[in-house]
Amino acid sequence: MASSPAGPLLNWYDAHRRDLPWRFTRDPYRIWLSEIMLQQTRAETVRAYYARFLDLFPTVEALAGAPQEQVLKAWEGLGYYSRARNLHRAAQAVVQEHGGRFPDSVEGLLKLPGVGPYTAGAIASIAFGRPAPAVDGNVYRVASRYFGVRRDIGDPAAQREIRALVQAALPQDRPGDFNQAVMDLGSALCIPLRPRCDQCPLSDSCDAYAEGDADVLPIHEKKSPPRRVEVAVCLAVWEGRVLVMPRAQRMLGGLYVFWLATDVSDAQTARETLEEAGFPCRFVESLGEARHVFTHRVWEMHLMHFALTGAPDAQAMERLGARMAALEDLDALPFPTAMRAALEAAQGLLRRR
Ligand code: ADE
Repeated sequence: MASSPAGPLLNWYDAHRRDLPWRFTRDPYRIWLSEIMLQQTRAETVRAYYARFLDLFPTVEALAGAPQEQVLKAWEGLGYYSRARNLHRAAQAVVQEHGGRFPDSVEGLLKLPGVGPYTAGAIASIAFGRPAPAVDGNVYRVASRYFGVRRDIGDPAAQREIRALVQAALPQDRPGDFNQAVMDLGSALCIPLRPRCDQCPLSDSCDAYAEGDADVLPIHEKKSPPRRVEVAVCLAVWEGRVLVMPRAQRMLGGLYVFWLATDVSDAQTARETLEEAGFPCRFVESLGEARHVFTHRVWEMHLMHFALTGAPDAQAMERLGARMAALEDLDALPFPTAMRAALEAAQGLLRRR
């Protein structure tokens, strides 16, 4: 496994850190405010809001005592206004329940409205020097490369693995600087496309750099697209009734369908499947196409009209639990939405007589 990145990372941070205004204080109120503002907003945008907000509300007591409208007004333009409402509520909780002092542990911070694991880790480490990781999407990217985690980053187990690796890498003496150094590295060098590995202080011990695959990490496994299946939907008609049966397969199990020939798109093959099952018939005409999208499947359906050339075989009917449905039965039986177009076509055929 890669060696600890803390030494070279902190040296790089000391030389290259961004001079962001919330980096010149240990005041938990100011750090908390900056982390809430930074949740969905770039640091450069936050700068001006942060300064103006602190002019208006220099202390947590000032914020807690302000009317909500004034707080929202100061937030105007930053977006995601639930952040401002939670901020106001959290300030009131700090004042009313904690005597104006911010909780100094991850667990305590997590109880404040608007503070999740990432923000709690950031505040605990930056304001209170707690060795808590602050892992967001940027940190997943940096860490997956450095530690060579080549698993789908959407997988919760991969995320757990990365959080544990970051936790283990945190230096006890400067956890807040470490967390912010990872953020700066992720925004300046270890960027999504074309990472600037030639300037990176960690390239000597970075797994992805050694393997040459930094630019393709982290792995985002695409959800596999639904599989396309051709289905011949056969309306097999005899004396004003059409062949239907409850589906035996798990998918759509128990719902009624017409005769389905899977992986079949031509009338000749579809007719053979009917005949082999005990339904001698002739092809009459094509009734068009229909598509139904399931979660993992797309049915490309070919609707076909067949005429049975003799009474349906009783044994075959029994074996399938099938029945010859009259027009009114089609209304009464449960059909899946996937059969809608076929159902309408069948109703058309049966009405035609
Ligand atoms: N994004 C979230 N927290 C940050 C911080 N403390 N510094 C820079 N970018 C950040």
